[in-house]
Amino acid sequence: MSMDRKILELKEKMEKSRSGGGTEAIAKQHARGKLTARERIELLLDQGSFEEIDALRTHTCTEFGMEKKKYYGDGMVTGYGTVEGRLVFVYSFDFTVIGGSLSETVAAKIVKIMEMAAKTGAPVVGINDSGGARIQEGVGALAGYASIFYRNVMYSGVVPQITAIVGPAAGGAVYSPAVTDFIFMAQNTSQMFVTGPKVVKAVTHEDVTKEELGGAMVHATKSGVTHMTYDNEKDLFEGIRVLLSYLPQNNMEEPPVVKTEDPVDRVDEELNYIIPDNPNKPYDVKDIITRIVDDGKFLEVQEYFAPNIVIGYARLNGKSIGIVANQPKHLAGVLDINASVKAARFVRVCDAFNVPIVTFEDVPGFMPGTVQEYGGIIRHGAKLLYAYAEATVPRITVITRKAYGGAYCVMNSKQLNGDMIFAWPSAEIAVMGPKGASEIVFAKEIAASENPEAKLQEKEEEYREKFANPYVAASRGDVDDVIEPKLTRYKLIKALEMLQNKRDQNPPKKHGNIPL
Ligand code: HXC
Repeated sequence: MSMDRKILELKEKMEKSRSGGGTEAIAKQHARGKLTARERIELLLDQGSFEEIDALRTHTCTEFGMEKKKYYGDGMVTGYGTVEGRLVFVYSFDFTVIGGSLSETVAAKIVKIMEMAAKTGAPVVGINDSGGARIQEGVGALAGYASIFYRNVMYSGVVPQITAIVGPAAGGAVYSPAVTDFIFMAQNTSQMFVTGPKVVKAVTHEDVTKEELGGAMVHATKSGVTHMTYDNEKDLFEGIRVLLSYLPQNNMEEPPVVKTEDPVDRVDEELNYIIPDNPNKPYDVKDIITRIVDDGKFLEVQEYFAPNIVIGYARLNGKSIGIVANQPKHLAGVLDINASVKAARFVRVCDAFNVPIVTFEDVPGFMPGTVQEYGGIIRHGAKLLYAYAEATVPRITVITRKAYGGAYCVMNSKQLNGDMIFAWPSAEIAVMGPKGASEIVFAKEIAASENPEAKLQEKEEEYREKFANPYVAASRGDVDDVIEPKLTRYKLIKALEMLQNKRDQNPPKKHGNIPL
């Protein structure tokens, strides 16, 4: 065969591989409101940067007539490219080929990409749209899943792992995404569940649709499984690009610096008046965040889950920071089970990838009640203190108002090895709120009084004067500096610069035992 013929043969094979399940299947995919595996990769990566690997790989199954049903690539598109010029590995399930089901070959292709990413220290983005384990292959497909799970775990905290769910993800297949650092979902076309509606009906007699059971908003609001939610796939892939800009390539690197025109010493007068005079009046902590960070840009993570705590990424003087902030606008910013778990995982992802953590604190305490106690608030709240305590990245706290009780200790306090604790003059640092404290400490005095209500008020005021301020903590050195709110941006940037070369190490151990 002449070289020309051989090249033609190669081109034909590559063309076949690129056409996936064929024109009809692609039209069906589009009619479902979904993009193809390759269209998705194009949206994710810099234009023209994708280099494919294993385009000609095929499955090896000979059961149920599968030997006649072979496609180049086997319903999985893998390779690498760049996002803003930085290397990223990607795998993308092709639903147009055998429902994007996972064969042993598909799994091997994913594993190959993951191993390359770990070797070269680059993020992996998995794009999921799959009918699950390829039923004809049986245990081979299951073994494939397990081999992916194993690498998800081994590379956790080594390179960022990001999952896009843009179709079904059912059964054990959901556990690979679940181990990754971030899950992105799109409305109406993405579903994740351990068992589908039919099995649910048979076992629990519940009638639910796929979307009700495991749609994007369900996982955004109720389960907290997903981190980022979008109206459509285009926005979703743009969202992944933005998230990557805040993260380093791997655990040995620093996040990229993004130049800003926002002055280091920008003063925001409004910040001096943002905390209401009435300590029980709410405000939106996101107003504080956006006034302080570079160009007001804040990428919120898990926006719809446990809104009583706010987490996300921003920059200060061009450098990535992770923000954890109690949100007085929701449940007075109380720490409950969901808020604790949400923030704890975020603290750990920041620590794993060298992103300093800035905490804005205004917390009345942990949520009381049987629902929380029976649900294990003790176990879950402990996750947050554990995550903070073991984080070795620079950790700064700004106490804007309430820092009460156990929640004070947990939210990156000085004694949890917090590096720099700032307090605004509005800070109230005490074992509990003035009312609760007075009712307990002065109970007898109040009961004996002719006007118990007035007495309580008087005691409350006395307690507030004495303890509900930052100065007792500052006199002990538990607060490093009491600052004027308008100067917070400058103070944070200076502290982060000072902490830039921070080196901290926890005692050597096999691994700690975080209360799971
Ligand atoms: C082989 C599959 C398949 C699978 C779909 N197909 N899922 N082939 N193995 N798991 C094929 C279909 O036969 C069909 O082939 C084509 O893909 C498109 O599927 P449709 O059913 O026509 O598409 P749609 O109506 O959109 O429904 C999508 C679906 C449905 C909801 C995903 O296909 C479905 O329920 N599939 C089975 C899901 C499932 O139970 N998988 C196992 C989960 S358990 P033709 O030739 O007709 O085009 C699991 C265990 C993992 O994955 C364990 C890990 C530890």
